[in-house]
Amino acid sequence: MRTPLIAGNWKMNTDGKSAAALAKAVAAGAARFGRAEVAVCPPFVYLPEVGAALAGSPVGLGAQNMYHEPSGAFTGEVSAAMLLDAGCRYVILGHSERRQFFGESDAVVNRKVLAALKTPLTPIVCVGELLAQREAGQTSDVVRSQLAGSLAGLSEEQIRRVVVAYEPVWAIGTGKVATVDEAEAVHLDLRKTLESRYNAGVAAVVRILYGGSVKADNASQLLSAPNIDGALVGGASLKAEDFLSIVDAAR
Ligand code: 13P
Repeated sequence: MRTPLIAGNWKMNTDGKSAAALAKAVAAGAARFGRAEVAVCPPFVYLPEVGAALAGSPVGLGAQNMYHEPSGAFTGEVSAAMLLDAGCRYVILGHSERRQFFGESDAVVNRKVLAALKTPLTPIVCVGELLAQREAGQTSDVVRSQLAGSLAGLSEEQIRRVVVAYEPVWAIGTGKVATVDEAEAVHLDLRKTLESRYNAGVAAVVRILYGGSVKADNASQLLSAPNIDGALVGGASLKAEDFLSIVDAAR
């Protein structure tokens, strides 16, 4: 049985004061986690203090991006080893905002995923279609091709450690959430793709999260779908109580 994962993607939000406070408030809700795994992904510069605020709690720390090279002259970039040093367990890779605003292709994401998997980090690899692609009936082709490209060359052992996040771009930060049927159909499609690329064992263990306007009031419906194994939460992860209510829905 797949352990649900609820991860908060804080994006470029919070500040030096609120980041640690938010982390502490999430950690204080640990009694509500049940069997759910919970993680928060603050901006790079707040990783150390958020990590300190989470010390001794079951909340995992994650980053929102990394570079694939281990070290060197790559101004402005952060390596997997640096994330581990800062206490990270997870790293979000290929988020649609990285793809859209920073030109990350599947090939770029793939290099990052392979680099993350050389370390104990768990990559949370995002895929998702644009509104125009959904309207043109291309959703399945788009997400399958993103999955294939972003996860190219992974061994069976490696793919088992990956978390996939389906985030329809039109649902991110818009308040427009995919219906449970729409989301479940894509999750099932992704799981079948994993089965055909690997095998049924892999398809059964890889967690596929949904992201895109997940809120306390739609989380339990989404999370009750058989192939939705958790949520990658943006806006609603910035308020501890909202985020914890989503965790409540997962346990
Ligand atoms: P929202 O929950 O704000 O729509 O963001 C989703 C997201 O992009 C999480 O990575």
